[in-house]
Formats: sequence, structure tokens, C-alpha cells
Amino acid sequence: MVTTPRKKLAVLISGRGSNMEAILASTRNKDFPAKIAIVISDNADAKGLETAIKAGIEARKFERKDYSDKANHEAAIMKAIDQSGADIICLAGYMRILSADFTKAYEGRLINIHPSLLPKFKGLDTHQRAIDAGETEHGCTVHFVNPEMDGGEIIAQAKVPVLADDTADTLSARVLIEEHKLYSSVIADLAKA
Ligand code: GAR
Repeated sequence: MVTTPRKKLAVLISGRGSNMEAILASTRNKDFPAKIAIVISDNADAKGLETAIKAGIEARKFERKDYSDKANHEAAIMKAIDQSGADIICLAGYMRILSADFTKAYEGRLINIHPSLLPKFKGLDTHQRAIDAGETEHGCTVHFVNPEMDGGEIIAQAKVPVLADDTADTLSARVLIEEHKLYSSVIADLAKA
């Protein structure tokens, strides 16, 4: 039997890391075509870093304050990604805007999950903005990352209803359940391609 090596993932986080955890859970299935090679955070206190360490995954922090400028910060992160041998770079709640140099270096293999049905509600505070706009549907998007914030080619989306009594918290919890499923499913497709 010929087995194809699993693709390597670099997962970039800034905080809670629940999407990273969902990816990690998927990789525990032996048929999942990818594994996490490295978790990178720009925030030393990110809960997701601890989760990765407990799972025995290489976890590294690169705080912006430790570098003289954005270019040096990004260069350190790119070096770690490249050393890990990552095939696919997944932004999973990574809350920093990447330069064009960074996004171009990983064109076609740098993806992000965003909590809205892009092109609606780019940027922050998406759940409250969807409620305020009177949307009846909301959701999440996985897209390729290009230099335009939340503007790269859409790969897949998942929708949820917006309920009459929703708050940003209840709506974000409903969307998050879909994020966790959608991200692993897109990663599996890309890893198999
Ligand atoms: C997720 O909802 C993700 O879609 C969002 O941050 C949250 C991170 O949660 N990302 C963005 O807003 C990026 N612009 P997590 O750390 O638990 O995965």
C-alpha cells in the first residue's frame, strides 16, 4: 500500500486558539491528510500556545515588541514557518495585518478564517455589525490571503441564521461551531489537491 505523506501545517494564532484546537482534533484522525508542524503566536499569553505545547507540537511566540519593525517581526515568523517545512499556512485568529511581502511569499498556500460572509463585514466586530445591519444570515469564510485585508479569493463559506434575540456573543458562538468544521474541511481539501 502506498501512503501519501501528510501535508504540514503552520497555524498562526493570537489568542484563544479554538480553531487551532479544532484543526488539531481533526489531525488525530489517521485519514486526515495534514498535521500541524508548528503553532506560532504573536502573543506570549495566547491560550492556544499552551494547548499546542500540551499536545507536543512545536509552539513559538514572536511578539512584535521584541522586533525593531514590522519587517523584522515578519521575517522571524517566516523563518520559523520555512524551517517547519509547512506546506499550508493557516491564520486562525491571527489578529495582525500581514505585509504584501509576507502574503506574496506564501501565495496560494496562505489561508485565513474570517467570522463573516465575506465580502460583507471585513475587519473587526463582525457579529455586532451583522446584527446592526439587520442581516438574517451570517457565517464564516475561509479565503486565500492576499495583500488586501479579508479580500483574497473565497474558498468556502458556512452560514448560520441570525435570530431575533441574538447578541454578538450568541451569534459568535453559533458561527464558531461552523468555523471549526469549515476550517478542517477546507484544509483537508487543499492538502489532498
Ligand atoms: C475566530 O472567530 C476567527 O474567525 C476570528 O477570530 C476568532 C479566533 O478565535 N478571526 C478574525 O477575526 C480574523 N480577522 P480562536 O482563537 O478561538 O480560533
